Amino acid sequence: MSKRIGVLTGGGDTSALNATLKGIALKAEELGFDLFGFMEGWRGVLKGGRYLDLTPDRIDENYGGTILKSSRTNLIASNRLDEAIDNLKKLKIDWLIPIGGDDTMTVGVELSKQFIIASVTKTIDNDVGLNPPDGSSVNYSKMLNYFCPGFPTAASRLIQYVQDLRTTAYSHNRIFFIEAMGRDAGWLTLASAYGGADLIVVPEIPYEPDRLADTIRSKHIENENVIVVVSEGIRNQKGELMITSKKELDAFGHTRPGGCSEIIAEAMRLRLSKEFPSATFRHIILGHLQRCGSPTPLDRDCAMKAGALAVRALDEGQLNGVATIMRTETGIEPVLYPMDQVIKRDENNKVIPRSLDLRFYDKANYQISPAGAEYFRPIFGDLPESRRHSLDAADFGEI
Ligand code: F6P
Repeated sequence: MSKRIGVLTGGGDTSALNATLKGIALKAEELGFDLFGFMEGWRGVLKGGRYLDLTPDRIDENYGGTILKSSRTNLIASNRLDEAIDNLKKLKIDWLIPIGGDDTMTVGVELSKQFIIASVTKTIDNDVGLNPPDGSSVNYSKMLNYFCPGFPTAASRLIQYVQDLRTTAYSHNRIFFIEAMGRDAGWLTLASAYGGADLIVVPEIPYEPDRLADTIRSKHIENENVIVVVSEGIRNQKGELMITSKKELDAFGHTRPGGCSEIIAEAMRLRLSKEFPSATFRHIILGHLQRCGSPTPLDRDCAMKAGALAVRALDEGQLNGVATIMRTETGIEPVLYPMDQVIKRDENNKVIPRSLDLRFYDKANYQISPAGAEYFRPIFGDLPESRRHSLDAADFGEI
């Protein structure tokens, strides 16, 4: 008898979600399975939830966001896991494919104890998976989930903004503080090196205002403009998020980050404006501009292949697996791993987000390290020279 697969997308959207759905839908059609798309994440499987007969022709893999919409519904906190399972059974769903990040998978792992699932990761934060084993050399092929679909596109958007802002930074002797997304991890922020960011401040290392001011000072003396990319998840020395907005918790109990670039810009202005009277300090929160729009070809293709792999795995009896993206001898390709190998949980059964591997970061210079550039090479190629006007003191006549 034909199998029925349910699929849903949870958490923040990404540009590659429709591509994953397309991969799932094409493989399901090929194998003769019915596909039920539940609307708005986990909310779709609850009473009042909606679903869609998801055929490949309905999905445009080159269009961002998710045709299934998304939400941050927490079935565990609301005690509605049993209700969801009853509904899945009522609809005669055999297998469920939740596509999501750490929060969606916190629910997914619990559900998998009673219902068969296969998962495909997604998140622009790139924080689902495991870093390569510790050691002085990095074995990239041992990184479980090389990247999460959605991350390469968000990173390429950030890179473009950083690169473009250089022209204005030059024209106005500006010190820009650009705030990148990434609630817990600095992966996205680190990618800004490819846009020529002068300084990169990641959330894995507590904020050090004096050291940052010293580094900005030397960069400004060199170039008269500085681009600092800061992660929204930066914490102060007490471990607190630096936010300007009202403290707001989402369904998974996370404080919404936002505004650290403004706080840091002001702190740096107070420290440096007397020394650099012509410098102007500005902050920019890129926010959802990083998450929207169409996927890059690499992101789209990997997402489609990962989606197809999840369906194939279920068909072949590999249950409760995660379709990861791996770096292999031959390139980047999806590989299925058992869920408990890819996803680690804390004492409260919450999925632990993957931090930036600090071997990829040059802490002393607020920059990407050679190992970090090697990490990004299959995604963005070699680290380019930053494009900027280069003038030095000898070029100017002085009055
Ligand atoms: O979790 C992914 C993410 O994009 C984070 O980087 C960011 O903090 C958050 O979602 C923002 O979510 P929302 O869409 O609710 O503003």
